[in-house]
Amino acid sequence: MSERRRILVTSALPYANGPIHLGHLVEYIQTDIWVRFQKSRGHEVHYVCADDAHGTAIMLKAEQNGVTPEAQIATVKADHESDFADFHIRFDNYHSTHSDENRELSSYIYRKNRDAGHIATRPIRQLFDPEKQMFLADRFIKGECPKCSAKDQYGDSCEVCGATYAPTELKNPYSTISGAAPVMKESEHYFFKLPDFAGFLQDRDRSGRLQPEVANKLDEWFQAGLNDWDISRDAPYFGFEIPDAPGKYFYVWLDAPIGYMASFRNLCIKKPGLNFDDFWAPHAGTELYHFIGKDIVYFHALFWPAMLEGAGFRKPSAIFAHGFLTVNGQKMSKSRGTFIKARTYLDNLNPEYLRYYFAAKLSGSVEDIDLNLEDFQFRVNSDLVGKVVNIASRCAGFIGKKFENRLSVQCAEPQLLDDFIHAGASIAQHYENRDYGRAVREIMTLADRANQYIDEKKPWALAKEAGREAEVHDVCSVGLNLFRQLIIYLAPVLPAMAEASRQFLNVGSLDWQSREQLLLGHSINAFTPLMTRVEKEKVDAMVEASREHLAATTTAAPAAPAIEALAPEISIDDFVKIDLRVARIVNAQHVDGADKLLQLTLDIGEARPRNVFAGIKSAYPDPTALTGRLTVMVANLAPRKMKFGMSEGMVLAAGPGGKDIHILSPDSGATPGMRIK
Ligand code: MSP
Ligand code: ZN
Repeated sequence: MSERRRILVTSALPYANGPIHLGHLVEYIQTDIWVRFQKSRGHEVHYVCADDAHGTAIMLKAEQNGVTPEAQIATVKADHESDFADFHIRFDNYHSTHSDENRELSSYIYRKNRDAGHIATRPIRQLFDPEKQMFLADRFIKGECPKCSAKDQYGDSCEVCGATYAPTELKNPYSTISGAAPVMKESEHYFFKLPDFAGFLQDRDRSGRLQPEVANKLDEWFQAGLNDWDISRDAPYFGFEIPDAPGKYFYVWLDAPIGYMASFRNLCIKKPGLNFDDFWAPHAGTELYHFIGKDIVYFHALFWPAMLEGAGFRKPSAIFAHGFLTVNGQKMSKSRGTFIKARTYLDNLNPEYLRYYFAAKLSGSVEDIDLNLEDFQFRVNSDLVGKVVNIASRCAGFIGKKFENRLSVQCAEPQLLDDFIHAGASIAQHYENRDYGRAVREIMTLADRANQYIDEKKPWALAKEAGREAEVHDVCSVGLNLFRQLIIYLAPVLPAMAEASRQFLNVGSLDWQSREQLLLGHSINAFTPLMTRVEKEKVDAMVEASREHLAATTTAAPAAPAIEALAPEISIDDFVKIDLRVARIVNAQHVDGADKLLQLTLDIGEARPRNVFAGIKSAYPDPTALTGRLTVMVANLAPRKMKFGMSEGMVLAAGPGGKDIHILSPDSGATPGMRIK
């Protein structure tokens, strides 16, 4: 066995303001599989996580529920922990960012950076809710678009016309918390001087340790230039007060990643002999990996290593970013019933189905992954029940009935078993690279071979012939040895099924290394079904239970009438001035630095395609879903220069905004360039 590695692994800390859903689980399952794999290989691994408990959202939620923030986060933490446990996500420690360890470490890291000159202070002017007596983050301010006067627009850009602006430019602004008109107010803020670390970060970027997509993103950010990062928030705020700065609190994202360290420190208290510095001292010879979603790369690839560098700690060995989950090809949706909470899933289905399906879909890249519910059912049934469990159930009966549950003393197919053992090297490589999809494909190819072997030998036919008992014994013993190899390979993905198999096979361990010893003359236990089929009715019931009907979801947000008021009447002459054309979306992509916009390339039959920026990202987070679609555009709108380039028209979409925006499409038969009259 190669050298024993010492590895600290984290998953991102889920916010303590809502339940775990299947999107989150992509990450926790991905991480848990990797951790279990490394442990199975005999390495020392510590997997820590915590609830991310600070911030305005949590403070307001507690207020809404009429409880203290402490009580609020305690309830949510208990729910998170039971959801994770039931999905077999086995943390070595699960802590909270609202903890003593985190308070101490955050103050320490801040002070070190401050004393080294990496903190600046300056006053900034911000909108303030005079009723609620608090400063308002942009997302708590709405008003009318300064360009097109659309109502209820957020403070950064207009979802109707795509204009971008500062919250201070909104007409008739209001606080979404109290409804009051905000006023301008100045206050002192604390900044982390990220540009101090530009050279350090660029060197790290060039070290080749990052995923290519992440490295590209970083290059763009370096090119755009790094800015000071505002790390303070004024009271009232649920978080840690900044040392020597009464009334100022650390912004939630300052102490969130420090929560990784805090959770580990808390583990060190519980686990004698585990030494904090072994994993955090500047030249620690141990490994540190952060599994995260692609949406939080900026925090983990820039702020976090810079803060650690500034405070004299080690830096992560790597960050592993994954993509987002879609369900049936679309973003999760409450109205379609595809925004599925962990608990709703568990009420209906076996968690290992999902672990297996995600594993089969995951690669080491940041690509999004799709949970197609039909494919999910098909895949789990055909691979796990039809292939893997089938091997054991076909062989176990004979071994039980005819041979008193004792396996043959010899191996009748040493070559075949040898092949299975050797396959472990490449399967391990795929796990190591987080290319679980490939690992699973190789394991299923082995399962096919095992089934083929049994099909060829036909133990059920041999059993009917006189004098061939020994052959039946040999074949079924080979079958069960092959089954054991497969279970060793699948154990990181299917821990519960592996444990049931371990008891059935009557072996002490299913560690990676254990596959090299064959089970000869070995007694097994009676076979019990290891996994049942996915039932369509259960999948349907889960979707139904997740479906939120519109009436049930309307929240008490101020304004936002159900039906928009009609615009003033116009004449037909006004209308014909608008040249509407059928357009094909030949490309749709994100715009760096824009939260709301997508960049569309539209073909309307002209020599050159049109470039249009549309404020529809919230409804189409995966822009590729739009590629190839027909829609309708205003083709004679004067081109408009936006922050990100020229916008040459506008596409037609319906809906109040946010996630509820729907691009219009013509009936089939329409072709790009046709005029709409
Ligand atoms: N609290 C921050 C992380 C702080 S880490 C120091 C946060 N929390 S979160 O609850 O919004 O997300 C937790 C993790 O789940 C993130 O890595 C995020 O990318 C991931 N996911 C949340 N929704 C997801 C999908 N729909 N699909 C895949 N992963 C998603 O961000
Ligand atoms: Zn507008």
